Amino acid sequence: MCGIVGFTGVNPASPILLDGLEKLEYRGYDSAGIAVISDGKIGTAKTVERIRNLIDKTDGGKAVPGSIGIGHTRWATHGGPSETNAHPHLSGNRKFAVVHNGIIENYVELKEKLIKEGHIFASETDTEVVPQLLEKYYDGDLLGAVAKVTSMLEGSFALGIVCTDYPETLVAAKKFSPLIIGCGKGENYIASDVTALISHTRDVIYLEDDTIAVISKDDVNLYDYNKNPVKYDVSHIDWDIAAAEKGGYDYFMMKEMCEEPRAIRQTVDSRIKNGSVVLEDISLTAEDLKKINRISIVACGSAYHAGIVGKYVMEELLRLPVDVDLASEYRYRNPITDSKTLTIIISQSGETADTLAALKEAKARGSRVLSIVNVVGSSIAKASDDVIYTWAGPEIAVATTKGYTTQLSVLYLFAIWAAEQLGTQSKETLAEITESLHNLPNAIDRVLDSKEKIKKMAKHCVDSQSLFFIGRNIDYAVALEASLKLKEISYIHSEAYAAGELKHGTISLIEEGRTVIALVAQEDLFDKMLSNVKEVRARGAYVVACANEGDTAIEAEAEEVIYIPKVHKLLRAAVEIIPFQLYAYYVAEYKGLDIDKPRNLAKSVTVE
Ligand code: G6P
Repeated sequence: MCGIVGFTGVNPASPILLDGLEKLEYRGYDSAGIAVISDGKIGTAKTVERIRNLIDKTDGGKAVPGSIGIGHTRWATHGGPSETNAHPHLSGNRKFAVVHNGIIENYVELKEKLIKEGHIFASETDTEVVPQLLEKYYDGDLLGAVAKVTSMLEGSFALGIVCTDYPETLVAAKKFSPLIIGCGKGENYIASDVTALISHTRDVIYLEDDTIAVISKDDVNLYDYNKNPVKYDVSHIDWDIAAAEKGGYDYFMMKEMCEEPRAIRQTVDSRIKNGSVVLEDISLTAEDLKKINRISIVACGSAYHAGIVGKYVMEELLRLPVDVDLASEYRYRNPITDSKTLTIIISQSGETADTLAALKEAKARGSRVLSIVNVVGSSIAKASDDVIYTWAGPEIAVATTKGYTTQLSVLYLFAIWAAEQLGTQSKETLAEITESLHNLPNAIDRVLDSKEKIKKMAKHCVDSQSLFFIGRNIDYAVALEASLKLKEISYIHSEAYAAGELKHGTISLIEEGRTVIALVAQEDLFDKMLSNVKEVRARGAYVVACANEGDTAIEAEAEEVIYIPKVHKLLRAAVEIIPFQLYAYYVAEYKGLDIDKPRNLAKSVTVE
């Protein structure tokens, strides 16, 4: 959600912190700040604008000297965006500066007690209790004070801490929010996300929950809350630096859409051997699968929409009931699940708080958990029984594109593999789908080639107040994601409707000129969709249709038609979404919006 970065070394800290914050800006960007120790004092700089403003304000960091510091980019939860609420927060005696991701759930009672004891609070944040508690419990032993304070905190946190008495030591602590230590030569880092680090180092330590890291420029030591040393492994990240940079595109979102064919190839190709799907990543066996009588998919946002596609595909291929839940609903509704349920968790970041909590809920009830995750070593990956990674590479734009289509690709792989294990489909059927899956990237490449046409079409809805996406079956699942993409980045209201449901209410909103985007890529339902399109047209709708190449009958009923290359009908979502990712992008571009950082949204939602 928010982003944390920290540095200790011999070089000036501020430029490194500001550079890291710029890389993390996609995680939260309503305010930001840095705190750096110099001559035994903490210097700070904050902004309620973008990081660029902080860079200008501090003359590229020169105004905040020192070679140890912490920085934060915020997505407001407790207290609105303001310089006072922006991190880092300082203790009353200005000995400690703290940055924090997550939510300290017991902060109200801690704060009340501290106020009674005479501590004066500047901000409305939950975070500020941490520096104040550190001041209270510090008796010269920094590790001891951090251990005492972190063991008092309820909720979730990733903390970066500096103390003027330890002018070379960076302290980090974590519970339920991600934090990574970057190991350099004569300098070390902390960050909430590898993207802030990879231009400096690829050797990282993923901090475990309930662990404190004491970091100097040459050394990293980890401890538990009893100050016992904790062993750690250093992992090497092989992501390309270029993959985390824009590489000539105006926005990450465009770059990431253009990367979709490659990302799917990376995700799929090594898992198809001699025409069959081989999932070496997982320990789940055919025997385990046979004991399962139901699949439960749990996720948030676009990952949830990928799950809905997964339901259609898996029910068709496996003939097993598949439920799809929003993680935020699942975790609080006493879900019925047990050892006969396979829970599939989907998350690009692997850090979404609701999804992680749902995973734990499912596990506690005896369900085996298989996750589909993009970020290696993320909390969800670590907590799962099995993980199938989407090899999409870093996704920076808030609106997911390659994250979503690679999630679909893994769902397809899993469904084909499971159908083979369960013997629910003939070898010929599975071979046909597998071949089509292998060819998906080529089909997507062709849709990407028609960018300019989609750009022209997008112009029509720039001034719309509201529009509809309609579809049936998998087209309906795609409609949900297409509608979300448009809303997220263009701020135009839209609704996705199961086409057959329109007449049960929402058709009353169709009036002269209302744009209705009809997804008509399921041939078995083509005639049904044609009738729905006629219904809205009769009420004045401006219809944009998306159909398979060759299905030209739709032209008579639509103002505009986008054709997509025909792939196996169960795999169509991955191709059909592409024009609408592009469509949303161009509408936002026409409106002059900040496409990668839509207002109020964050890439990785690590709070409830
Ligand atoms: C946020 C993002 C969405 C994303 C959702 C789930 O809301 O803005 O794009 O789909 O989180 O994220 P995850 O990382 O769990 O897939």
